[in-house]
Amino acid sequence: MEWSVSTTSFAVSSSPLMAWLYVLSVFLHVLAAMFWIGGMMFLGLVVVPVLRGHPERARLVEQLGRVFERAGVVALGVLLVTGIANLAFRGVTTLEQLWATPIGRMGLLKLALFGIVVAMGLWHNRVVGRQAVQLLQRAPRSDEAERLRRLSSWVGRWMLLASVLLALVGVLIARGVWVW
Ligand code: HEM
Repeated sequence: MEWSVSTTSFAVSSSPLMAWLYVLSVFLHVLAAMFWIGGMMFLGLVVVPVLRGHPERARLVEQLGRVFERAGVVALGVLLVTGIANLAFRGVTTLEQLWATPIGRMGLLKLALFGIVVAMGLWHNRVVGRQAVQLLQRAPRSDEAERLRRLSSWVGRWMLLASVLLALVGVLIARGVWVW
């Protein structure tokens, strides 16, 4: 069997075991990306609208957020580990190669976006989202509760956008398209 990929050459093409490990790493990476992005879309587009007007909305949103956060941390951990492994399988094994090669620079872009996603996730879950839920339980009709609800909703949307960009950059890397 031929293990090399003609359009995107990668460093492990000589060994079948390494080639399979590379395939496994990309597979787990895509699976985790599906869960992370799909989960956020499901929460934002299905769960939150369904709960609008529900008397227990704040409590349910808080519970759903807490459970999704736990699974999301695992998904993001898998994405980081398999993402770094993907880069290594593609020949980026030193910090210097992150700057010096086109694929390395794309990886760097992904790492920067990943940092933004994690920072926004922490802000969303630990700061604004938590304050919004607490206030929606204590004073659901207050202007401040509505302001915090809107703010956490916007942080969530930007986090989703950054995650979708991460997926796009990944698809570009996989097809050998370098943007910088
Ligand atoms: C929320 C975070 C992330 C998401 C949603 C995501 C998503 C994706 C997707 C959808 C692909 C396309 C796979 C394909 O078309 O075959 C991909 C590929 C890739 N990702 Fe990520 N990714 C994330 C984080 C990372 C991180 C932190 C790194 C590490 C720097 C990384 C490195 C890569 C690499 C190198 C590829 C190309 C794999 C290959 O085909 O050789 N990703 N990513």
